[in-house]
Amino acid sequence: MRASTEIPGPPPANSIGGAYQLMKAVRADLLGLVLSAFEEYGDIFQLRVLGRRQVLVRSPELIRQVLVTEAKCFEKGADYTSRRKGLAKFGGMGLLSSNGALWKQQRKLVAPALHAKRVAAYADAMVRAADEAMEPWTEGDVVAMDDAMMHAALHIVGRTMFHEEVGASADVIGEATHALHGMLEANNSAWTLLPAWFPTPQRMREDRAVRRIDEVVYRLIRARRPTEDGPVEDTGDLAALLLGAEYEGGGRMTDEQARDEIVTMFIAGHETAANTLGWAWVELAREPEVAAKLHAELDRVLMGRSPTADDYHALDYTRAFIKETLRRWPPAFTFLRTCVADTQIGDFQIEKGMDVSLVPYATHRDPRFFEDPERFDPERFLGERGDAMDRYAWIPFGGGPRVCVGNAFALMETTLVLARIASRYRLELVEGQDVVPVPGVTLRPSGPLRMRVSRR
Ligand code: HEM
Repeated sequence: MRASTEIPGPPPANSIGGAYQLMKAVRADLLGLVLSAFEEYGDIFQLRVLGRRQVLVRSPELIRQVLVTEAKCFEKGADYTSRRKGLAKFGGMGLLSSNGALWKQQRKLVAPALHAKRVAAYADAMVRAADEAMEPWTEGDVVAMDDAMMHAALHIVGRTMFHEEVGASADVIGEATHALHGMLEANNSAWTLLPAWFPTPQRMREDRAVRRIDEVVYRLIRARRPTEDGPVEDTGDLAALLLGAEYEGGGRMTDEQARDEIVTMFIAGHETAANTLGWAWVELAREPEVAAKLHAELDRVLMGRSPTADDYHALDYTRAFIKETLRRWPPAFTFLRTCVADTQIGDFQIEKGMDVSLVPYATHRDPRFFEDPERFDPERFLGERGDAMDRYAWIPFGGGPRVCVGNAFALMETTLVLARIASRYRLELVEGQDVVPVPGVTLRPSGPLRMRVSRR
């Protein structure tokens, strides 16, 4: 085993000037920079900035080690757990941020509500959101497809979580999610050097957003469950499942824990799905041959009617299309772990306290695992080619014990929304638009995504 100091990488940027130059280069082209560093240094490299080290890994084998075989040596770090400037400021100790015993106990309680068998019950809400998105369209309209998909995804989480009554509440939570993204993006700015108590405009926006979320979500929780151990009104939605679920040793989630899990699902499940759909429309417009195959499947399976949960399983090409979209444009293009016990990854020692990033964006573009990776080719997910794929080469939802708990939900949602809209409309990118990936908190297509709609 080699020392972690021997992990290859660019020269350290340990002066303020050097760190500033690196930050500038990252701002200009983060994705290009990361891809070329993997090309130069191999499947594992490190960045050294102002005395801190960050290790990045690319190959399925190293990913498997971090997420599965050595999973006990890695946890979510301050980016998630800090209540001051991490995700926990909004999502509290929900599943995305918690670690250890709390995470384990919550995962057991939450996972059954999002199990593949369960999510079929939410198919109607998914298709309805697609119908609502199309409602205002008339032939030849130019629509902002990124906004339309954001709205649809928000209403899908809102309705599956709180059945009917969510309406305006979903908008409050949606706004708050944007404030969160503002916070995470602002974390890279000089404002964050100010002491925690200093009320920057961004921090005041965040505090307001948290207060509004709390108001709405606690109200919705208490309407379902006036007291923590009292009866839960069975409205058949996700909130009722979560609030009614019992721990193995008895007892239910506290209101605060329920609030954290609910807000976490809004945060985790809304923009990721919306961006996937945004990219799906871009690819469908750019790839006429692929579009012809997708349309042929939709016409054959649906024959003009609305898709159902059963259709989801029959729409093989459409599902593969979504998987290929997630390969090319993984919303979680990178995600992070902090090492909590010394271990070994590949040939190198990783010590407690080091940060390790997985970079699906790079793994998904590696020609060793995806032939002709720049080609948009849904068929790589079908038949024998699909079966032969390394499980840890395609990781839009992560892997191991902390794999996305909403992955079955997300695949059904994106497939059904795409199927419903594409069976009725053709969408073209308005000319002169150069859509490029924007690596914010998630990887989104540059907007506004202006598309012209025409009836099929
Ligand atoms: C295309 C859409 C989605 C993508 C690409 C995505 C991606 C991911 C990824 C990569 C992780 C693992 C992060 C890590 O290991 O650090 C994750 C975790 C999670 N996701 Fe998703 N997600 C999506 C949709 C959803 C939806 C719809 C929900 C909820 C309804 C959801 C809820 C969660 C939660 C709660 C976690 C934390 C799980 C845990 O740590 O136990 N996600 N997601």
